[in-house]
Amino acid sequence: MLPREKALLALYDVFYEEKYSNMAVKDALKGENAGIDKNFIAQLIYGTVRYKLTLDYIIEKNSDIKLKKMSKYVLLILRMGVYQLCCLDKVPQSAAVNESVKLANKYAFRSKGFINAVLRNVAKNKDITDFPTDRIKYLSVKYSFPEDMVKRLSRFDFCEDLLKSLNREPKTTIRINTLKCKNLENVEASPLYEYAGYVKSLNIADSKEYNEGKFTVQDVAAMMPVLALSPKENEVCVDVCAAPGGKTTHMAELMKNRGKIYAFDIYPHKVELINKNADRMGIDIISAEVFDATKVYEPLLEKADKVLADVPCSGIGIISGKPDIKWNKEDISELPKIQLKILENASKYLKIGGELVYSTCTLYSEENECVVNEFIKNHKNFELQKIELPSPLMQENDGYITLYPNFSETDGFFIAKIKRCR
Ligand SMILES: C[S@@+](CC[C@H](N)C(=O)[O-])C[C@H]1O[C@@H](n2cnc3c(N)ncnc32)[C@H](O)[C@@H]1O
Repeated sequence: MLPREKALLALYDVFYEEKYSNMAVKDALKGENAGIDKNFIAQLIYGTVRYKLTLDYIIEKNSDIKLKKMSKYVLLILRMGVYQLCCLDKVPQSAAVNESVKLANKYAFRSKGFINAVLRNVAKNKDITDFPTDRIKYLSVKYSFPEDMVKRLSRFDFCEDLLKSLNREPKTTIRINTLKCKNLENVEASPLYEYAGYVKSLNIADSKEYNEGKFTVQDVAAMMPVLALSPKENEVCVDVCAAPGGKTTHMAELMKNRGKIYAFDIYPHKVELINKNADRMGIDIISAEVFDATKVYEPLLEKADKVLADVPCSGIGIISGKPDIKWNKEDISELPKIQLKILENASKYLKIGGELVYSTCTLYSEENECVVNEFIKNHKNFELQKIELPSPLMQENDGYITLYPNFSETDGFFIAKIKRCR
């Protein structure tokens, strides 16, 4: 199957079958040999998902049929065609139009002429000349974000830069498993953390080194909560929302695979992933179980030196790698309540003097500072603790740090550190 057809079918799954964009890319590339342009397939999928709102705006301006009246394949072929015309320098206009018409031949035969006409119109009028005048609407159309998201992020005076950086194509980043090696070939070292690096390959998880457990695929920002927690050899640690184990295995590395980590997740199939990752990486101090973190696991009350609560969240900080988050229809209004409940229960596992890190990959204050402040207000025996991070990402702080992608060139993350003092 040719790259554009692969991408079209993957986009169908993302937009109409609720498949995550990163999974759609992974599945589209599965089994493909070196001859096919994997980067192009990935770019078509991620780019079309990332710029959906802007692409739809352009399509509406160049069509006399409303988007709502178009069939699924017509709309997808148009989105992918407009993306090539307006966002990819390397694709000739003729190829963008003609290849889209070929796809229409197979998937939207009766609309072939219409698709051809719309794309030819767009090719002549690529630049948007009539952006909305309202600031939120303007940013929404220009950077392809839902208005509600722009509104929430507009509390930052660097909102426009932030939106731009959330649209960047992320680098594939790995964390070296220090239990097995201290460096790896063909990895560009990261200036942000000594055991982080960047790789070119798209299917890195098929490599020999990955299967030998020499590294984990993880953004540098996602390494910071565990560095902030700093678990030590022979400590007892708890990770309450642990799957697939990216941070649990990092904890085990810092602990030199000595001590004990109790790792939980609510989904059985995800708990399996924690075990699989630990096995792959030669780690045997993790005990993984299915458990709902909004409940209390009695056997661990006051037993832990360190606790990690890397809670479920709206995921705004990781939009560059998972652009479908922009279009997620899930109601996020209940999240802060769940996050606070998880934090309260997680805190109960700490011994006196023990420390907890609360982290999210979102930038909404309702899920970050507000949750932590509410916890501290209601629990007088806990205090915020200064966070230490590797110097390139270190910020002056009194117990919480936010990494903004436009400044840190990582995913967006929030980290708070709390100590049980009595
Ligand atoms: C941000 S992810 C954790 C990522 C993980 N710490 C890592 O670094 O690989 C949040 C996790 O919380 C899990 N989760 C959601 N609700 C939960 C609950 N009530 N109790 C326990 N886990 C939950 C999700 O399945 C998801 O795996």
